[in-house]
Amino acid sequence: MLVYRRRGRGYRPSRDDSVSRGRSPVSRSADSAAASCYPPGRLVVVISGRGSNFVAIADAIEAGQLPATIELVVADRSSAAGLAEARRRQLPTAIVDYTSYEQRELFDQALAERIASANPDWVVLAGFMRILGCAVVERFAGRMLNIHPSLLPAYPGLNTHQRVIDDGGEKHGATVHLVTGELDGGPILGQVEVAVSPQDNALLLADRVLNQEHRLYPWVLKLLLEGRMVWTPGAGLALDGVPVPDGVLLGVEREAECQ
Ligand code: GRF
Repeated sequence: MLVYRRRGRGYRPSRDDSVSRGRSPVSRSADSAAASCYPPGRLVVVISGRGSNFVAIADAIEAGQLPATIELVVADRSSAAGLAEARRRQLPTAIVDYTSYEQRELFDQALAERIASANPDWVVLAGFMRILGCAVVERFAGRMLNIHPSLLPAYPGLNTHQRVIDDGGEKHGATVHLVTGELDGGPILGQVEVAVSPQDNALLLADRVLNQEHRLYPWVLKLLLEGRMVWTPGAGLALDGVPVPDGVLLGVEREAECQ
């Protein structure tokens, strides 16, 4: 499994990195291709709330671990707390307020236009709490990502943490996937697992899952931006040229390596 060691504010792969392809681990010998070999990917990040995943991505960029630039942070409501953090970092921000549009299609169109105006390579939904219509999804097909707090295809939709606890689940986690017209149903790119303990409540579990989301999203983006992870409609997902139909699994960080 690929283990990320904390250094300073972000994470970087350890020397002995590897990833699980599908569900069978395959070793990889050294750090992935140098980020400097690739032109920075242009990201537009779309948020609705606190924006902690946006911050994790921005931190990874600032730490030189992710070859990307954030061209725009756009929110669907002015109350999104993540906007303040984006402004503090002097990133361009925009609000496309869903309450200003009587029809969902009009909101979708305005949001799509604003996103497109920043000419993104990747559209990164990070805690975006609206369901997008097909017109938007198709416009950015294959380059719009979302993060969801469950091990999809299990537990699409809301209240995932409580639902896992109610079901007596032992394993939970988060998924980064491509966005399609099906809610939380697009091709899975990467996942991270979190064990559920008998003492868990939804808040405790959400906190642990969120910490892992902050590792997972920059990691998947890095694989995409470095061209190691590729998804095509015909062939599906591949990592370093090898098919990985179920996505890749990010290893769980071990306590001893978190220094
Ligand atoms: C995360 O749990 C994410 O998986 C879900 O919404 C939450 C957003 O958190 N889609 P944040 O706004 O990134 O802090």
